[in-house]
Amino acid sequence: MCGIVGYIGNREAQPILLNGLSKLEYRGYDSAGIAVLERNQMKLRKTEGRLANLSARLRDHQLKGTAGIGHTRWATHGRPSDANSHPHTDMSGTFTVVHNGIVENYVELKQELEQRGVVFTSETDTEVVAHLLAEHYEGDLVSAVRAVIQRLQGAYSLGVMTEHEPDKLVAVRQSSPLVVGIGYGENFIASDIAALVAHTRQVYILEDGELAVITPERIAIMNAESGQPTNRKPTQVDWNADQVEKGLFDHFMLKEIHEQPLTLRNTMLGRTNEYDEVCFPELAHAADVFKNVEKVFIVACGTAYHAGLIGSTMIEQLTRIPVQCDIASEFRYRDPVVTANTLLIVVSQSGETADTLAALQEGRRRGAKVLAITNVPTSSIARDADYVISTMAGPEIAVASTKAYTAQLLAFCLFSVYLGQEKRTIRSEQRVELVRGLKALPVQVEKVLENANEVKQYAESIKDAGSLFFIGRGLDYAVALEGSLKLKEISYIHSEAYAAGELKHGTLALIEQGTPVIALVTHMDLYDKTVSNIKEVKARGAHVMGITVEGNVQLLNAADEICFIPPTLQLLAPILAVVPLQLISYYTSLALGKDIDKPRNLAKSVTVE
Ligand code: G6P
Repeated sequence: MCGIVGYIGNREAQPILLNGLSKLEYRGYDSAGIAVLERNQMKLRKTEGRLANLSARLRDHQLKGTAGIGHTRWATHGRPSDANSHPHTDMSGTFTVVHNGIVENYVELKQELEQRGVVFTSETDTEVVAHLLAEHYEGDLVSAVRAVIQRLQGAYSLGVMTEHEPDKLVAVRQSSPLVVGIGYGENFIASDIAALVAHTRQVYILEDGELAVITPERIAIMNAESGQPTNRKPTQVDWNADQVEKGLFDHFMLKEIHEQPLTLRNTMLGRTNEYDEVCFPELAHAADVFKNVEKVFIVACGTAYHAGLIGSTMIEQLTRIPVQCDIASEFRYRDPVVTANTLLIVVSQSGETADTLAALQEGRRRGAKVLAITNVPTSSIARDADYVISTMAGPEIAVASTKAYTAQLLAFCLFSVYLGQEKRTIRSEQRVELVRGLKALPVQVEKVLENANEVKQYAESIKDAGSLFFIGRGLDYAVALEGSLKLKEISYIHSEAYAAGELKHGTLALIEQGTPVIALVTHMDLYDKTVSNIKEVKARGAHVMGITVEGNVQLLNAADEICFIPPTLQLLAPILAVVPLQLISYYTSLALGKDIDKPRNLAKSVTVE
């Protein structure tokens, strides 16, 4: 996964490219580079490490020119190094390419090119594209690009420039996202709208197999294979530039944690009526499909998968339809039993995760109807699905997902109630209680956030732990999984989440004097059971932080410390209980001086398998 930007117009390209890349760093941040046409000569700067390294290098050696392309990388083929950074060029240095995706047949293409005398300067798959372009060029860049992509297999969003035709950029999209930004006397390309909102909110979202030719005055989009123009209306983006800035917060993650009251409100907006019924105008055309659903699969990766685990309980409890939640990379290869009237729900913040997209396609091939829950309504997953519920979380920049997760939980709850209404499995008192509970959540999350300081102290106390355990039962176990993932992702402390009742079957052996254990105890019907498990770990020396609902002070008889969340319905408790866990991860990582928004080895949008 990498980020691509491109600019052509009448302003200096370098600052625009660097600013665009800074908004795409979440996609990968192990090296970066730009190419600018300086008086029609291709000039490149690329460096290993964060974008800041590249910016520092460019400070004293600026590239002057009004057309350029840039890239921020998450290494797949070839370690992070100056040489492996994009843009890549052909041997003459006149063709440059930035690429997001993987050219799967690059080994054979490389061998073929080497046999013809081409000398490679990097270990990347991308470099073959630059050399192939030079070979196919006969005076027309668009024809050369179209010929080259016939030779490529895999995923490739490309930005291409040549000295021979300095008035244009060419962009191609195949299985990795790419948008074209529309300006006045200037135009842009980028992997994500976030890189463009400072300049324009009018974009074309390219489809797979499309090629765009971009000059300062014109954007022509065509089918890359046939060359036929595609007639498309621009999309108006409703994000604004502030949403992709940190503002007063030190990190995007903290900003996004604090945005949750707002994002929950936004995700609720217009989806309930004055009778406390759930309405999804966007699903109205599918009411019959939902009425007849007999089986549900939920498929996702990472944090979205953890939201799916909770979603599966919500749907089962409110509709009694059997639900199975799968990790996308497993679902797609495990020959799942998809029968008629199966609904596949795919959950993805970005809407671009390669495994989730492939699982969607696999489920559809087997006959399932697909509902996407996503934060990016213009994404590939949203466009491939039959039905879409948008989480209104706004752009999420920090790699560790927070506000998207709680918005996904809210969307799941709304959808479960909706399905219950359609199938007449939910009692009206239960529906009213749930909808009112949902409406109370934003204020309750604000309350949890007000107590951030207590959590901060606890985070300080665990920062030197070698290992940490999260335990819980039922929905608390699913929240524990998310809490543990958050902590691992950004603090690099080893942690595991365990179903509290399962500990004694092995993992208890790892508990020793002082081992921190975070116990989620919001399931009051399972309270005594979980307390027994807390006593088991305490008896072996664990230090226990309990997370429970206000008023449940008796937990202090079992746990060493307590963090309270406001009282709510059991199905909604995860939306509150996860917030202290997000804060614990954040402050632990802060105390350790880690790079919170860009943890090592990770990327936000994983567009490779
Ligand atoms: C990456 C991110 C995770 C995210 C997962 C799924 O691994 O680092 O934070 O949960 O992808 O992403 P999606 O965009 O599909 O929700």
